[in-house]
Amino acid sequence: MSEYKMETHSEKETTQIAQRLALVLKPGDVITLEGDLGAGKTTFTKGLANGLGVKRTVNSPTFTIVKEYQGELPLYHMDVYRLENSEEDIGFDEYFNGDGISVVEWAHFIESYLPENRLNINITYIDEHKRLLEFFPYGDHFKWIISELIG
Ligand SMILES: Nc1ncnc2c1ncn2[C@@H]1O[C@H](COP(=O)(O)OP(=O)(O)O)[C@@H](O)[C@H]1O
Ligand SMILES: [Mg+2]
Repeated sequence: MSEYKMETHSEKETTQIAQRLALVLKPGDVITLEGDLGAGKTTFTKGLANGLGVKRTVNSPTFTIVKEYQGELPLYHMDVYRLENSEEDIGFDEYFNGDGISVVEWAHFIESYLPENRLNINITYIDEHKRLLEFFPYGDHFKWIISELIG
């Protein structure tokens, strides 16, 4: 359980909180998203992209692992579901240390590659339109951001 949590009651509310988060992110920030299929990880990413000023439509990168988008900052959208039980390194360090924002769906499948400082968000399905968002900030930068955003 996280001390920072909120319920959203629509897809729009989830994208709105993600948009607000996007506005305070810095180059090299890493956001990890966990939750079952259909929880809202890609929906949250769409909100982040929107907040970063990405014009292209963001959709699930399941078959490519990483998709890059150009906004105020670059957005690296990863879905590492297919890397379950694989030690494959697709050059994570370069993304995580790059000038963009990395967003990783199913991040626990690449646990050993994740940076220490990151923002993890668990999304839980409650009912058709309701989701529980729990925020786990690691490092001062994200602790500050989340206390401002949610606290
Ligand atoms: N409160 C909500 N927050 C996020 N998505 C929601 C919400 N309510 C309904 N949805 C719907 O749930 C689905 C989430 O799908 P998606 O974001 O692709 O999930 P994931 O990437 O976790 O598999 C979308 O169809 C979205 O419209
Ligand atoms: Mg997804």
